[in-house]
Amino acid sequence: ESTTVGIVGAGPAGLMLSHLLALSGIESVAIDIRSREEIEHTNRAGILEQDSVRLLTDTGVDGRVLTDGYEHHGIELRFGGEGHRINFQELVGASVWLYPQTDVFIDLANARARDGGDVRFGVTNPAVREVTGRPVMSFTDADGVDHEVRCDYLVGSDGSRSMCRHELPESLRRQYYKEYPFAWFGIMVEAPPSAPELIYARHDRGFALISQRTDVLQRMYFQCSPTEDIDAWSDDRIWEELQTRVEGGGFRLIEGPITEKTVLPFRSFVCEPMRHGNLFLAGDAAHTVPPTGAKGLNLALQDVKVLHELLDAAINLGKTELLDTYSTRALERVWKAQQFSYRMTTMLHSLPDETPFDARRQLGQLNDIVSSRFGSAHIAECYTGWPTT
Ligand code: DHB
Repeated sequence: ESTTVGIVGAGPAGLMLSHLLALSGIESVAIDIRSREEIEHTNRAGILEQDSVRLLTDTGVDGRVLTDGYEHHGIELRFGGEGHRINFQELVGASVWLYPQTDVFIDLANARARDGGDVRFGVTNPAVREVTGRPVMSFTDADGVDHEVRCDYLVGSDGSRSMCRHELPESLRRQYYKEYPFAWFGIMVEAPPSAPELIYARHDRGFALISQRTDVLQRMYFQCSPTEDIDAWSDDRIWEELQTRVEGGGFRLIEGPITEKTVLPFRSFVCEPMRHGNLFLAGDAAHTVPPTGAKGLNLALQDVKVLHELLDAAINLGKTELLDTYSTRALERVWKAQQFSYRMTTMLHSLPDETPFDARRQLGQLNDIVSSRFGSAHIAECYTGWPTT
């Protein structure tokens, strides 16, 4: 068997790439060890930059994001018992869309099925080899049949525990890590929205994020310990903690039954370069950002947008030298997103060994941002996303 582009990992990045390649007349085979149902039922982040929305609608994936998603013109930064709105529209003329990553995945999987794309979910024994020559992607499909697919190019969009990443020789691979001494406790709540837009809250007890899903389902998070015991958190205790962290000015969260409780990992990671021979890494396989900036999915889609453009030029126009620019182009945005996610994280979370000075300085930083048009505009610019590099 052979194909032009082998894609390991059929999450949003892998499927978007497969979709874009098909539009350029380029064949691909995408595999994933997870079943479609498994991916559809994992709750992930919920914010799309406007360019991510455009990528979904302009390339004919689906316009459902525009009808079922919610356009948000800003966010609220909450600290010192008060809310401060960052008005994206007024400051930078941009919006973001609340549209869960699982829905992005569903739309992409449907589009690939509709267009006859070759996507194999639920494979076992995935392996890749010969990435500096003509790569081979091997796997056993869901029916137990073994396959060896020869590819011109191989893309590793296989998530943070990427197998493909290890095909970059250690002597060439540089990995950058930042660990944080906290995590997020995420809940799903059956209740109407407590606020029309996202609230990013800083409190002496720690960070909280009030997000939404629909008119009847809400997503909320609060800073916790990386080793937090989920069973120690009754619904009552969770509500008391969340209400405390967002209190002030009479604001109250609308409570409801909690249908999911999870502790989310938290770290920054970058692997450089993002290419070796004919292997290209995209999305979480190459980088992880802390969730505070809502950048993970958006970065993955941008990687794939750039990669598609370069593969199209290489395959359809013979401009293979352009592939050399992938890593540099993608990493420029990756490091901006790392910086923004780090900044949002450190200005809103409390450190276990924090001093009163640290806490006052943090409030100074937040006041500096909300009292300055330039400061607010910079947050708005980063949050709504940078133009494609
Ligand atoms: C959501 C998650 C985030 O990490 C974020 O920054 C904003 C929203 C969410 O799940 O809705």
